[in-house]
Amino acid sequence: MKVTVYNCRAFDEKALFERYGKELGIELVLCPDAPDQENAALAKGSECIDIITSKMPKELLKVFADNGVKYVTTRTIGYDHIDVKAAKELGMIVANAPYGPCGVADYAVMLILMTIRKMKRILERTNIQDYSLQGIQGRELKDLTVGVIGTGRIGRTVLTNLSGFGCRLIAYDLYENEEVKKAGIPYVTLEEMWKQADVITLHAPLTDDNYHMIGKDAIHKMKDGVMIINTARGGLIDSEALIQGIESGKIGGAGLDVVENEFGLYYYDHKSDILNNRELAILRGFPNVTVSHHMAFYTDDCVETVVRDSLLGCKCFTEGKENPWEVK
Ligand code: NAI
Repeated sequence: MKVTVYNCRAFDEKALFERYGKELGIELVLCPDAPDQENAALAKGSECIDIITSKMPKELLKVFADNGVKYVTTRTIGYDHIDVKAAKELGMIVANAPYGPCGVADYAVMLILMTIRKMKRILERTNIQDYSLQGIQGRELKDLTVGVIGTGRIGRTVLTNLSGFGCRLIAYDLYENEEVKKAGIPYVTLEEMWKQADVITLHAPLTDDNYHMIGKDAIHKMKDGVMIINTARGGLIDSEALIQGIESGKIGGAGLDVVENEFGLYYYDHKSDILNNRELAILRGFPNVTVSHHMAFYTDDCVETVVRDSLLGCKCFTEGKENPWEVK
């Protein structure tokens, strides 16, 4: 069997593809570019293609279907970049490759610690041999209430990770989870979350209903000096309201792995470019805001899992076996 892999990164994925391709007896065509109308011909003779987050609208899927492709797997958890309905109409199967929650959960805890200990300021100072203390006094987790919004796979792992730090934990989700309740962590309303939490960490998907759930009104109701951590999706926070909250001192700090309108910026080297995301530029400039480029997921375990499982899914498909990665 043959699989054509698009967006194959030389620095971390190529060796893994070669290893798993050999182990699973799969012939691979490795292409560094995103799939498009021109390079679709590379997939001739492969029933399966393996992609990342590039958009797969109906027209492009049709070109691949015309080249004999019947199975599209994405090396990501989300598959909203693929027109799944159109794929079905074209007789194609779509699959994904979920990775474990630990990488993002670890990262969220790191951002919480960095934010409460003012680590951005500390690192900036040590880099220029400024060893003064004024302005870098931190806080201790044992004295704080941490609110977790979204208690799915990642949110629950964050709660478990934080349970060793002695902080008070509260949670909010549309659906309460028994495991969380059994651990003695109370679910509160959003109003209570805003009122009680010293640190708020977001782990809910972005939906039509929760777009800008942290906006001007919510921030107004929060505790003075509240710290906000976002490793979920940028659209959950109104960037303008966040900036105003930081400027007024209402918000004490933030750790943002995701921001609004990051698509097209992140994962590219833009150091010589003028970018069209003012909010990101302002947020990056604050001494109490740590920004990273949507990389909480990016660990050795995650990369190996998506490469391996995307190929295993192709093998299940080709051999007509039950496929746990198929998007139903
Ligand atoms: P999950 O599906 O296991 O859990 C999501 C939880 O959020 C569910 O319990 C759901 O009921 C809850 N939820 C949905 N709408 C909500 C709302 N309006 N308010 C409160 N809770 C709500 O998802 P998982 O795997 O825990 O991932 C969470 C989010 O983390 C993803 O949706 C994604 O946005 C983000 N993510 C970020 C990554 C990064 O690299 N920064 C990598 C992977 C995921």
